[in-house]
Amino acid sequence: MLSSFLSPISILLVLSLYFDDAVSSSEVSTKIGKGYRLISLEETSDGGLLGLLQVKQKNNIYGPDIPLLQLYVRHETEDRLRVHITDAEKQRWEVPYNLLPREQPPKAKQTIGKSIPRTAADYPGSELIFSYKSDPFGFSIKRKSNGQTIFNSSPDESDPYGNLVYKDQYIEISTKLPSDASLYGLGENTQPHGIKLYPNDPYTLYTTDISAINLNTDLYGSHPVYMDLRNGGGEAFAHAVLLLNSNGMDVFYRGTSLTYKVIGGVFDFYFFAGPTPLNVVDQYTQLVGRPAPMPYWSFGFHQCRWGYHNLSVVEDVVANYEKAEIPLDVIWNDDDHMDGHKDFTLNPTNYPRPKLLAFLNKIHAKGMKYVVIIDPGIGVNSTYGVYQRGMANDVFIKYEGEPFLAQVWPGPVYFPDFLNPKTVSWWGDEIRRFHELVPVDGLWIDMNEASNFCTGKCTIPKGKQCPSGTGPGWICCLDCKNVTATRWDDPPYKINASGQQVPIGYKTIATSAIHYNGVREYDAHSLYGFSQAIATHKALQGLEGKRPFILSRSTFVGSGAYAAHWTGDNKGTWDDLRYSISTMLNFGIFGVPMVGSDICGFYPAPTEELCNRWIELGAFYPFSRDHANYYSPRQELYQWASVAKSARNALGMRYKLLPYLYTLNYEAHTSGAPIARPLFFSFPNIPELYGLSTQFLLGHSVMVSPVLTQGKTEVKALFPGGTWYSLFDMTQAIVSKEAHFLTLDAPLNVINVHLYQNTILPMQRGGTISKEARMTPFSLIVSFPAGASEGQATGELFLDDDQLPEMKLGNGYSTFINFYATMSQKTIKIWSEVQEGKFAVSKGWTIEKVTVLGLDGISKSFELEISGEPVTDTSNIEFAASEHNFLNKLEDGHKKKS
Ligand code: GLC
Repeated sequence: MLSSFLSPISILLVLSLYFDDAVSSSEVSTKIGKGYRLISLEETSDGGLLGLLQVKQKNNIYGPDIPLLQLYVRHETEDRLRVHITDAEKQRWEVPYNLLPREQPPKAKQTIGKSIPRTAADYPGSELIFSYKSDPFGFSIKRKSNGQTIFNSSPDESDPYGNLVYKDQYIEISTKLPSDASLYGLGENTQPHGIKLYPNDPYTLYTTDISAINLNTDLYGSHPVYMDLRNGGGEAFAHAVLLLNSNGMDVFYRGTSLTYKVIGGVFDFYFFAGPTPLNVVDQYTQLVGRPAPMPYWSFGFHQCRWGYHNLSVVEDVVANYEKAEIPLDVIWNDDDHMDGHKDFTLNPTNYPRPKLLAFLNKIHAKGMKYVVIIDPGIGVNSTYGVYQRGMANDVFIKYEGEPFLAQVWPGPVYFPDFLNPKTVSWWGDEIRRFHELVPVDGLWIDMNEASNFCTGKCTIPKGKQCPSGTGPGWICCLDCKNVTATRWDDPPYKINASGQQVPIGYKTIATSAIHYNGVREYDAHSLYGFSQAIATHKALQGLEGKRPFILSRSTFVGSGAYAAHWTGDNKGTWDDLRYSISTMLNFGIFGVPMVGSDICGFYPAPTEELCNRWIELGAFYPFSRDHANYYSPRQELYQWASVAKSARNALGMRYKLLPYLYTLNYEAHTSGAPIARPLFFSFPNIPELYGLSTQFLLGHSVMVSPVLTQGKTEVKALFPGGTWYSLFDMTQAIVSKEAHFLTLDAPLNVINVHLYQNTILPMQRGGTISKEARMTPFSLIVSFPAGASEGQATGELFLDDDQLPEMKLGNGYSTFINFYATMSQKTIKIWSEVQEGKFAVSKGWTIEKVTVLGLDGISKSFELEISGEPVTDTSNIEFAASEHNFLNKLEDGHKKKS
């Protein structure tokens, strides 16, 4: 195949013939150069392919071309293919292998000179086939089972993009996409058009502290991965593409093509074959890390705000929740408890330690928890122990040999370098010291993009005190000059940073600053929050051997294995209420399933009606927390009688569903399955669901259809075919053969939540604190399709002692139950298969009630069997006769009878 195979000598000859190519400015944005030619390819001992690519014509747009590239291709698993392209002669920056463990590609130099040409262009694995074109080099990835091309980097004349480009600070590659591609992911991004990526919207990935109200802008996290769901011939196939690269990038999605323009690092592509969306997240999280198990209490409701000025206010909040009988598991402090906004300190006047400890004893005794914020910036203050020990251990990021000076809430700060093992130990020690001071139950790591109020090289102004804290505190008061503009501060290609093409060092660490081992901030910038989460997780787990709870604002590929995420500073507006759903669903795809938004909005003041609707939706976020800005008026759920009522209703249901949510936590941890999912995860063959961002599923079968518009008391919701039972009134069911829109009643205090057929849903009695709720007896809801004479249903339940860091079977502290049910004309059988039942028995859990839905299709004189035993006493069995709303007899949009 490769007739033009060249010896090393002829490679050198060709290299010396490069000349500068004149490219017109109109081509600059789309087509740069003539690409590369494949000059050798060999099979490696690990079953991979290793090749060399030689640049065809040199040009200087965005810097000189890298003359020789190494191509490495390998089927790493049955469903995962990796394509790695780097400089063949020099080591380039890559996402560190110790941070995100994976296989190392072979070292470049070994290959030159011993290549054996391959004769076949196709390189098949189990499900994915790699094939290539040699000149100009382009590759495609095909699905073996149906021949579908999922990635194709070879342009045609008509394509708006060009060949592979590889410079030191600019790499570019594109793929064609067919018209039936539906893309999801590429965040973090607030997407005005919903979860499905929208052609020509910009997708810039670079971790940035710019509030979530900015649409289509690079936000706090960087996740260069997309899922593509295609449904050409009626059957859907999903796959995903990860570009594992931490440098800033613009991704241009044009509908029929997608181009990556990245300012450094390597092309390290991973293709995940799916074919279902659940398979995709399973394969993805197998590589990047399974989502961290979250403690049981973290599925309870959380209350936070910035501006709980003293401990009495916090005590008051807890008391008011109790009085209003609204569930509350976790009370949080923003930086109000700190002394001068310094991490790991207590304000002696407002949060005196003895009183705080007494308060914590009290709430801990009830099973409630306490979480506080920690920012990465360490106050530069010679009397502050954390700073002193940090300096003594040399833990900070450097600029021109000195710690890089920035400003955050405490005033002047230095940033710890979490890539440095010494920093990780020092951080762990500070967390240990703090935990001895205040026994917190989790940590909230914020401002870790990293956020800086200043830009450039700063000094502390002589004779001036930098104000710390709120108010004017976030105005830069240091004396700052532009950094000496190295090519790291001012790269040749400008990503659309902060949505406005600001310099990449804008309000963050100077990108020419240096981390451990000479690593540049330029390359490692987007790893800051991720590396902090890893260090924090290690520290918390080491403390008491308990399962850590960490909430991180900045995230990267793999962060879900350590932390939960909230969507940052949103607005108390109806738009932001809507946007929260697509961001949450995308994070599920990113392998960060524990996610939610600030309920009622961070700022400004929400209206009472909005807060009603927000708690009705937010009660079903995997991570459910009310949080507000310093300047916002108080917005705890008890502040308005109507909101309190909605909260009791919606959170009341959440607390009954805690065993289900916790089982989904187990499912996420073992298979990557998101807790909150787009509807297409359960119904991938219904294209109408692909862009749906106004409803979502919890797990496989519970559908939430919130009101997202002001003044509405009904909601138009899409119901996939089958039977859906209202969870709040199981006698109400919606039945249809095919997907239908239906308008449902939704007065102010009502949220529509439905359970799909064929499910066995474990629930408990609920309560106001998860510790108590989880000890109440269980009930099982068995949902057969309405009107059918036969049916089957399944469900799962995972129970464990969530004090242990791991979440797994076999440790003596967990139980897993599969529930099964079948119905025929004559018999209903319900049974279970229990793994490690001893633990559940030791806890004394019982099932007090079974509710069977959808029996109207079978004869009245059926027999009931539970676990093989005939049941004659049916006092604990409820047969809910449901009033069915047969959608196939109704017009779309027909109003439900209530
Ligand atoms: C950031 C966080 C916000 C927090 C504030 C003060 O803006 O996103 O949640 O309240 O900092 O710490």
